[in-house]
This record gives sequence, C-alpha cells and structure tokens, in this order.
Amino acid sequence: MYKAGILGTGYYLPEKVITNFDLEKIVDTTDEWIRTRTGIEQRRQAAKNEYTSDMGVKASQMAIKNAGIKIEDIDLVITATITGDYPWPSTSTIIANKLGLTDIPAFDISAACSGFIYGLKLAASLIKSGDYRNILLVASEKLSAITDWTDRNTCVLLGDGAGAVIIGRSDNGEILSTVLHSDGSKIDLLFQPGGGCVNPASEETVKNRLHYLKMNGVEIFKLAVEKMPEVLEKALMQADITPDQVDFVIFHQANIRIINSIAKRFNWPEEKNIVNIQKYGNTSAATIPIALAEAIEQGRIKKGNIIALSAFGAGLTWAGAVLRL
Ligand code: UT7
Repeated sequence: MYKAGILGTGYYLPEKVITNFDLEKIVDTTDEWIRTRTGIEQRRQAAKNEYTSDMGVKASQMAIKNAGIKIEDIDLVITATITGDYPWPSTSTIIANKLGLTDIPAFDISAACSGFIYGLKLAASLIKSGDYRNILLVASEKLSAITDWTDRNTCVLLGDGAGAVIIGRSDNGEILSTVLHSDGSKIDLLFQPGGGCVNPASEETVKNRLHYLKMNGVEIFKLAVEKMPEVLEKALMQADITPDQVDFVIFHQANIRIINSIAKRFNWPEEKNIVNIQKYGNTSAATIPIALAEAIEQGRIKKGNIIALSAFGAGLTWAGAVLRL
C-alpha cells in the first residue's frame, strides 16, 4: 500500500464577471437580498465558446505545473461535473485529448456538488492500491449553460469555474479520510428534469423549460445543515483528528449562512474557514478545489496543514474528507 496525497492544485475562472446589480436588471431581485440571504456578490460566466473541458484544461495545466510533474506522467483522468461538454461521452476524454494525452483511461463521475470529494476517494484508493501513479482529478462546471435566467430562485446562485488536483504517491501529505453518502429518494429537490431518457429533448421539454436546473432551496438548505456536519464528524473520526487540530475547513460554497452555521458548531473561527462564495457563487463540484487552490496560491494554506472538507448536493449526495497537504 502507498500513501496518497495531493501533489499539486490549480484553478481557473472565466473572465466575465456578473454582479448582483447586473442580475437586478434581468430578474426581480436586489443586491441586498442576494448578499444577505446567500453571501454572493458576483459570479463568473464562461464565454459562449468556452466549455467545461476548456476550463478544466486550464485548471489542470496549473495543477500539473504546481505538482512538478510532466503531462505524460498522468496515467488517469477523472472529471467531476454535471455540465459536461456533451451528455456523453465523458468530458474527461475531451480534457485528456486537449492536454495531449492519448491511450490513458479517462471517465467522469456524476455526484453534483459532492463530486470532488467522491473523486478524492476514488483517486486515493487507486493510488494506494498501486494501480496508478499520478491521477488528474478535475472538477469543472459551466452551470450558466443550464441556468434559467428567468428564475430568480436559482439564477442568482450559480457560477462557472474549474479546479483540479494531481493525486499521487506521497511521503508527506496524505488524504487521511473520505466519507461518502447518497439518498436517491429526493432527486426532485435538485435536478435537471429534461435531456435524459425520462424526458428526452423535444419541443415540449424545451417549452416547459425542463433543461434547466430546478431546486427546492428551502428543503436543500435544511438537509445541508444536517448532513454536512454529520459527515464531517465521521471524516474527522476516521482520520483520528479533533476539530481543534484542523487548520482550515473548506465547505461547498452554496450559501454563507450554511457555511457559517456549521463552522460555528465545530468552533472554527473565521480565519480557519476558507470562503470565496462572495466572488464566485456556487460552482457545484468546482467550489472546493477552486477554494483550495486559491488559498494555496495566496500562501494561506501551506504544506503540512490539516484541511477538512464537506459538501452536499444533488442526488442527494453528501461527503466529507480530511487531508494533510
Ligand atoms: O449546491 C447544492 C446545494 N445548494 C444549496 O445548499 C442551496 C440551499 N438553499 C439556499 O441557499 C437558500 O434556500 C436560498 C438562497 C436558495 C433561498 O434562501 P431562503 O432564505 O431559503 O429564501 P426562501 O426560498 O425561503 O425565499 C424567501 C423569499 C420568498 O418570497 P416570499 O415567498 O416569502 O414572498 C422568495 O420568493 O425570498 C424570495 N426570493 C427572492 N427575493 C429576491 C427568492 N429568491 C429571491 C431573489 N431575490 N433572488
């Protein structure tokens, strides 16, 4: 058995900024409502011809550079996304091809906002077993492509962006624990009804706006504040780490009220809580790796730090992890 750790991190955000004031012009909302109810001030939007794979490639190039490996050292690509370039095949194969990688396995995982932590578990296991040496784990989302810009309940929340990590054999850093859960009895709380085999694309599905993300925010909020601390507790126990040993926590960036209420329960002060929701909104699977890579770039998170992660999202899925960088 080998030890699996994060060797390098990267992130990418598209240039275009959409502020709350911009949204005031298209739906019945206010900057004040969005800021106080969610913590979001602005979000990024990918260009029309800038796809999930393109953002994933840019984040990957940074992660590869920071890991100090060569592109050809990568032997597996996994991408967590709900907004792939196409319904199929996987966006991972497209990312691998754009990076110049041929012949290596590449596949996607669909676990929505928990997708990055699901990927961490999978990649860590494959490194520990010795089957792979350097896995590129990408989380990339172009949520603007499935956002209903007439629905103020959802359009103010979402953003585009990508994060990536290289997971490989490590002597120092280590992914100490990963805990995953799902509950498929509540898919209708957060999903895209159209485009699959239940509601294949038709004039009817387009007319009924079924190809957009639909969310029951209040119910998701209640479940998130219940499940995220629960899974975090389990991840800390499995890693044999107490909350006060944690240097930094990164929650899925969906709502500042969710983030702050859970941090408070664990007695984590503001300085330990990495938050960037104000700048980027909710980028689904990408929020955690973007926040991680940005905090490392800023010199805030350093080698040797203990980091706790927790996410909740569509599926429903929820997940927690603890790692030493
Ligand atoms: O990433 C996956 C996980 N996602 C989440 O964790 C999201 C969880 N949910 C949330 O973050 C919150 O539930 C929301 C931000 C989505 C909504 O906040 P809320 O405080 O739960 O608001 P609400 O849905 O209870 O709505 C309160 C009021 C309603 O008006 P009435 O019915 O009381 O008259 C809404 O229609 O706020 C209204 N509202 C808005 N007003 C202005 C909803 N969206 C907006 C808006 N601007 N954008």
